[in-house]
Amino acid sequence: YTVLKWTWRLTYASAIGGLAWVAYGIYDMRNPDDQPEPDASKKTLVILGTGWGAVSLLKKLDTENYNVIVVSPRNYFLFTPLLPSCTTGTIEHRSIMEPIRNFLRHKKAAVKYYEAEATKIDYEKKVVYINDESPIKGDVSQTEVPFDMLVVGVGAENATFGIPGVREHALFLKEVGDAQAIRKRIMDCCETSIFKDQNPEEVKRLLHMVVVGGGPTGVEFAGELQDFFNHDLKKWIPDIKANFHVTLVEALPNVLPMFSKQLIDYTEKTFKEETITIRTKTMVKNVTDKYIEAESTGPDGKKQIEKIPYGLLVWATGNALRPIVKDLINQIPAQKDSRRGLAVNEYLVVKGAENVWAVGDCAVANYAPTAQVAAQEGAFLARMFNSMAKTYEIETKLAELSEAQEKAPGKEARTQVFEEIKDLQKRLRRVKQIGPFEYSHQGSLAYIGSEKAVADISWLSGNFATGGTITYFFWRSAYLSMCFSTRNRILVIMDWVKSKTFGRDVSRE
Ligand code: FAD
Ligand code: NAI
Repeated sequence: YTVLKWTWRLTYASAIGGLAWVAYGIYDMRNPDDQPEPDASKKTLVILGTGWGAVSLLKKLDTENYNVIVVSPRNYFLFTPLLPSCTTGTIEHRSIMEPIRNFLRHKKAAVKYYEAEATKIDYEKKVVYINDESPIKGDVSQTEVPFDMLVVGVGAENATFGIPGVREHALFLKEVGDAQAIRKRIMDCCETSIFKDQNPEEVKRLLHMVVVGGGPTGVEFAGELQDFFNHDLKKWIPDIKANFHVTLVEALPNVLPMFSKQLIDYTEKTFKEETITIRTKTMVKNVTDKYIEAESTGPDGKKQIEKIPYGLLVWATGNALRPIVKDLINQIPAQKDSRRGLAVNEYLVVKGAENVWAVGDCAVANYAPTAQVAAQEGAFLARMFNSMAKTYEIETKLAELSEAQEKAPGKEARTQVFEEIKDLQKRLRRVKQIGPFEYSHQGSLAYIGSEKAVADISWLSGNFATGGTITYFFWRSAYLSMCFSTRNRILVIMDWVKSKTFGRDVSRE
């Protein structure tokens, strides 16, 4: 009885403690402290972007040490791993957006944020040119921002490899607007396909959902879409049941090339069971408004071009350079061989440019362009900048002390200053001990639909491959823990509960 009584009391106390902690967290989030203005006498650190790399840098940076300025056309951070879930309404897009102001208002010293696109970096003049590209513009919508230090974290844009028709007819999946456009288009195709007297060929075309690119973006989206059909669409619009079909087109011999063979096979088997068609070794060469033209190898071993009609076309074939990055590469002779992004050294310094660093998808440091890499790079830069500021502070103090030592009256005073210098030199050695950036791979995770996920996890210096429903719960908890704020976590959980309870919303906005 005593054990039971104490167990109950402890549970009760921890529940109250937990609630109080959450309540304090919410209060703290809603009532940020006053911040000292940015100190213009300090070095100006300009950060381009509000994505994974830039925001993880901002989170860990001691902003009192610099005059920090952030420039990005997007005034929020986007938790991209859950973006495929927004295309079908499993999660609402605002649940994975975190206003950049929420991060910045909690920093010790104020940070300036400009909602603008950086259009050009002049690394020799140390100036970034910025444009306000938002719908509302003031008298001034173009200006320049000088910098002492610059971090480029502008990510990448969608690769199309110059294939005709892609930009005009396909939808991408990178930003919130893309997910909204896809959600709208799915519903539009479904409703139009059952328009009175629609001809059967056209019904088939409209309900053919084609995804190009068998990387994780394409696979996750195809899985989410099939879930949407299985759990909701076919219940609310039974007329589309016979013709709704998802096809994934991939140029290589298999999907998810970065996963282990066992998980590739598992994904392909799961897709088959879900009736998603995978067309591997099929390369799209041309896109029109109603069909794609793809090259594949026919049964006779000869190359054939095939027309595949579609209603929805989602293009997920990886990353390409943003114009501002291309332009910077062209300005720096040491970057002449850079094709996939800004080549950086082991401290993430852009090769050939002083005081310019790059993180995330726009940097090439021999790692895959993932959120995991970008976040670790951003956190590394924050540690390095904090250490650089401390080093500067200690060195200034040391110079002052050396002077004071020479002028100190008497042996005792000199010894006292000497001791202080020794302590500071020790601190300086400790602070300067920051090594080069080393990426620690935690593993790869992807949702493949029907409440299954695949995971290649790095564990105890080995690899552990797993797929299925338990992995799906692991996937969910891993992504929840990776969310950048408590607010996002709560909203995502509420969305999961909502879509499970009431189903996804099938109205077209
Ligand atoms: P981004 O996060 O793309 O941020 C770039 C920032 O720069 C944005 O704020 C943008 O507005 C801003 N910007 C753009 N142009 C300019 C300009 N000219 N001037 C100033 N600012 C500019 N990775 C994983 O590890 N795990 C996953 O599960 C995963 N899932 C994904 C799902 C999807 C659908 C997608 C598209 C990607 C996914 N990724 C995932 C990859 C991951 O999102 C990227 O690797 C990551 O976002 C890269 O971070 P970044 O900071 O370099 O760029
Ligand atoms: P990707 O580069 O990983 O895959 C693109 C695929 O498209 C390739 O397999 C390629 O062969 C194929 N392709 C290219 N051109 C084609 C054509 N004309 N016809 C048919 N197929 C064609 O791109 P993705 O999926 O957009 O991912 C980008 C980055 O984001 C990757 O580094 C990825 O690891 C990361 N990411 C990670 C996720 C995760 O870990 N769960 C989820 C989404 C993205």
